[in-house]
Amino acid sequence: MPHHAPIGVFDSGIGGLSVLQALRAEMPAEQFIYLADTGNAPYGERGDAFVMRRTQTLARYLVQQHGVKAMVIACNTATAAAIDQVRQRFPHLPVVGVEPAVKPAAMASRTGHIAVMATRGTATSSRFAKLVASMPHGVQCRVQACDGLASAIEAELAQDDPSTLVDGGARALHGRTLELCSQYLAALGPFGSEAGAADTLVLGCTHYVFAQAFIQDVIGTKVQIFSTGGPVALQTQRLLAARGQLATAQSSDLVGGVRLLSTGDGNSLAQAAQRWLGIKTEVRRLSAR
Ligand code: DGL
Repeated sequence: MPHHAPIGVFDSGIGGLSVLQALRAEMPAEQFIYLADTGNAPYGERGDAFVMRRTQTLARYLVQQHGVKAMVIACNTATAAAIDQVRQRFPHLPVVGVEPAVKPAAMASRTGHIAVMATRGTATSSRFAKLVASMPHGVQCRVQACDGLASAIEAELAQDDPSTLVDGGARALHGRTLELCSQYLAALGPFGSEAGAADTLVLGCTHYVFAQAFIQDVIGTKVQIFSTGGPVALQTQRLLAARGQLATAQSSDLVGGVRLLSTGDGNSLAQAAQRWLGIKTEVRRLSAR
């Protein structure tokens, strides 16, 4: 596999951009193909068989059409449903997934209570059950399946004009997103450093990172929030380095080293890429199948 081949990254929508941000920071010389399955989103409430099928289709597309040298499944729901199958299908390709950062949160917790926000697909998966079971003894984990939250975030980002937003857009989220965040955080609480309260919160869906500033406002600054972009980027970098496949110099003609593809309306992806990654580029539309 040539070291100048791109790295494929995909999610049901814009959520994986939060992972792409970390990947670009870790490996600025690389080229990335980011694929949002907007035409089939959200994944969180669709069931395993559907998510497994979509994940396999997208992985195959990235390998066959773009010759990717590594793949990042930047979606907790798809990782939980199908990473094993993707690894089996492409045994020679480094495949990195994202999983809720339950272990680091449990290690950091002083109260012994951690909280997790995730999609229903992730929260009810056997992979997630195993993660929770592997936590240090005595740590309690509260989990909330946040139906509708990823879609609400996606819909809001598609509507807004980034030029009107302040603070990277995080506090500019409104309406349905804030309503759902407040409702789910209330169900997970109490939060804080007192005995019995959760002092760490895991964002177990890559979309939720876009609402992190608001979530932090609600739960307070004493509660530590965990997401997975950084560790995933580091792991991808390590796997490529071990194979001698890291790009040696930036040889890309892509804007910001990134090509954006979507199986649906690319508006939310274009807006989010501009707002969060500072990349203003076209989104190519693919057939949803
Ligand atoms: N961003 C995805 C995740 O991390 C999925 C969101 C969805 O499509 O429901 O799980």
